Amino acid sequence: MSRLPSVEITVYPYECDAYGHLNQAAYLTVFERARWEALALGPGSDFFKKLGIWPAVRRASIEYHKPAFPGDRLAVDLRLEKLGRTSIALSQRAVRVADGTLLAEVQLTFVMIDAAGRPVAVPEEVAAVFGGRMSSRPGEMLRYDVGDVALAADVRGDGPALLLVHGFPLDRTIWAHQVATLAGWRRIAPDLRGMGASDAPADGYTMATYADDLVRLLDRLGVERAVVAGLSMGGYVLFEMLRRHRDRIAGVVLVDTRADADSTEGRAGRDRMIEVAQREGARAVAERMLPRVLGRSTQQTQPVVVEQVREMMARTPVAGMVGALQAMRDRADATPLLSSIDVPTLVVVGQEDELTPPEAAKALTRGLPSAAMTVISGAGHLAPLEAPTAVSRVMAEFLEHVRDAVA
Ligand code: MLT
Repeated sequence: MSRLPSVEITVYPYECDAYGHLNQAAYLTVFERARWEALALGPGSDFFKKLGIWPAVRRASIEYHKPAFPGDRLAVDLRLEKLGRTSIALSQRAVRVADGTLLAEVQLTFVMIDAAGRPVAVPEEVAAVFGGRMSSRPGEMLRYDVGDVALAADVRGDGPALLLVHGFPLDRTIWAHQVATLAGWRRIAPDLRGMGASDAPADGYTMATYADDLVRLLDRLGVERAVVAGLSMGGYVLFEMLRRHRDRIAGVVLVDTRADADSTEGRAGRDRMIEVAQREGARAVAERMLPRVLGRSTQQTQPVVVEQVREMMARTPVAGMVGALQAMRDRADATPLLSSIDVPTLVVVGQEDELTPPEAAKALTRGLPSAAMTVISGAGHLAPLEAPTAVSRVMAEFLEHVRDAVA
């Protein structure tokens, strides 16, 4: 049931047709007036404006029961029929106050759109006002405005939140198996700015902006605290979230990542890669990185995964690629942070990971006050994609263990 109040509306003569009663077009106007009055009496008529969205009517069907005449007072109530990812279905009923006769009903579907006319997720605030609870279901990727950029994200499932942060130069789909299978959790897999289907501005890439973007995304989704999993560069972003937004993090999963900053040699390598991206484009970067990010076993036995990663990297916008390389080059050493991480922590590493090998993961684990570490056999640097079932199983066990602490 909607939390908006029922309102009374007077039928004016000018609204009635040549036969002296409300016709279909006029009813639409009357129902619309009733909705605005209900909003004004409830959260305020600037409610949608404040959220930066507009509820666009996509379908309306009216059922007449009895005629309404000038001077009639109609009591109009409003019910939430269905809460979708980007749409809501409402019904309104008009009852004549004088005799309680049901005069007409309307069924409406609204799609939430942003200023550019793009569909956006129904904000929690809207769901709350209409008396519904957001339930994320399998569905299409959506884009969420988080300030100066819109981030694409897959959001699926109900339960405590699990934020999955991808690495470089990748996108949210490296977590596809975890998004599909980690039932009992609200899985949120965004594309970082500059990668995947998120906006790729010309500049503004630092670990701080990535971290702030993700916290704004959590805000948009009404998530107070989340377990955050970060793969490689996603781990660097997670460390920055711990620095800047520690109270939003309920648990930590560090996958194929490291805490230390780039060495002098590593920073020079970033600069060379920036030149390659600018001079030859994203595909050239993809070809150079591919042999190092995928494990030997994957390269020999999973040609589909090899192609998937090649294409994922090659379609990364150059601006996003250059921005991420600069942000990684300039990131701070997170080693001093490790001993203060006091939430449940899991470290996962692919046995064949050359970029952040198991030895590095062991050093990382030793620096943490209490963390379990799991080595995934047959996987390289992209373990969640290369050995998805094994990684999902390890994560599911960890999540089950920490559920009470998080919920
Ligand atoms: C990644 O997978 O995110 C990158 O390899 C990380 C890095 O280059 O440091």
